[in-house]
Amino acid sequence: MTHARIAAIDVGNDALKANFGKLESSLYIPNVVARDLEDRPVIGIEDLDDKNPLDNLHIRVHSPALRENNAIYRVGNLATKTTNSTELDPGSYKSEEDQTLIMLFASLALDAVSGKGAQSAKNNVVEANYNLGTGLPLREVKEGKDVGYRSQLLGSVHQVEFLVTPKYQGMKVNLKFDEVKVYPEGFAAYVNLVMDNDLHIINKELVDKQILIQDIGGLSTDIAVIRNRNVDDDKAQGFNLGVSESLEMIRDEILTKHGVELDSRRDVVDIITRKNDRHHIMVRGSRTSVHDITDRILLELAKKQYRYLRNVWQKNSQTEICYFVGGGSAVLKEYIKMLNNKLDGFNIEFFEDEEESIWMMANAYYKLISDYIRKTSKKPVEPANKKVEQQSGSSK
Ligand SMILES: Nc1ncnc2c1ncn2[C@@H]1O[C@H](COP(=O)(O)OP(=O)(O)OP(=O)(O)O)[C@@H](O)[C@H]1O
Ligand SMILES: [Mg+2]
Repeated sequence: MTHARIAAIDVGNDALKANFGKLESSLYIPNVVARDLEDRPVIGIEDLDDKNPLDNLHIRVHSPALRENNAIYRVGNLATKTTNSTELDPGSYKSEEDQTLIMLFASLALDAVSGKGAQSAKNNVVEANYNLGTGLPLREVKEGKDVGYRSQLLGSVHQVEFLVTPKYQGMKVNLKFDEVKVYPEGFAAYVNLVMDNDLHIINKELVDKQILIQDIGGLSTDIAVIRNRNVDDDKAQGFNLGVSESLEMIRDEILTKHGVELDSRRDVVDIITRKNDRHHIMVRGSRTSVHDITDRILLELAKKQYRYLRNVWQKNSQTEICYFVGGGSAVLKEYIKMLNNKLDGFNIEFFEDEEESIWMMANAYYKLISDYIRKTSKKPVEPANKKVEQQSGSSK
């Protein structure tokens, strides 16, 4: 039996998405970190208590899993305000970057100190046990990187110390994992499509079909091929192109052409996807169309994404349907549909709700890890047997 809390975390290149406990809490944190070289950062601490901890994550992390142990980081929104912040590089391995672990630990520590955790603190130290469900890109699972990633998480205690963070300043969280499951990202999306929270099949139509799942993220695009209820490792393809670059281009052009500086890529997404006044901004008080800019840049990206689809479909000709997921799919939906109508007319499907697209992986990991824990804790296992089970690696 385990009393650890469930955590299902998708460390996306663009943003971390996490579900906790009985789904009573979740977190969305931009995947940006900045190293702090000194202990005392220049952040106004005067009115710290009025601020939101989520926007002021400032932590020191101790963990043998890190290349650089005991370093201090600003994480998420706080990091975006610094000049030395880093976002993941598209060509890199998620499983080998400290940044992935920093994000993961930061979100878990934040969950541990908010809620009931804080009250159980002794001398400002919270002991937190988790059953973690998370994922890695197919490419990394194919190369077996999930095994080392999992064992370094399981093998030790990871400590997060909150520094200049409102409410939690001075608190430390010792993170321990009772169980860690690392799922391949494409497979997770499939599980979410065909199964409910108890892993009962909710989509009989779909479950035995050969399907594609095109996940357009911030910095990367993955196309998974599902056949015989499993992800076909050899057929899956990953591309180092997401939607962030195009959003950034739109932001630049709006600045050059209209002299309007949008705060973030999120603002661009809003302009493209909102129900009213789509593709318009206010320029010196006048409603102004930016449709020429958004159309040109997004159509260009949609064409590239469509080429990826065509390519993979050609190699998997018996595919019945392709689902588009990820934040990028929400942004490109109308453009890809339009191209498809004009060109090949593939059977493709998008999600109505953009949130559903974005939370697809985190929701899938939640289903998978809760089900796994439920199953393993029902039948009492001898400690010796349990060990074996834990070493059986990640599920596919
Ligand atoms: N409603 C939304 N909320 C937040 N971001 C959105 C939304 N709709 C579209 N986006 C955009 O989608 C992109 C992020 O998509 P997503 O969260 O799927 O990426 P990711 O999983 O973090 O990245 P990757 O898959 O490359 O690892 C961002 O560029 C973001 O601006
Ligand atoms: Mg993603």
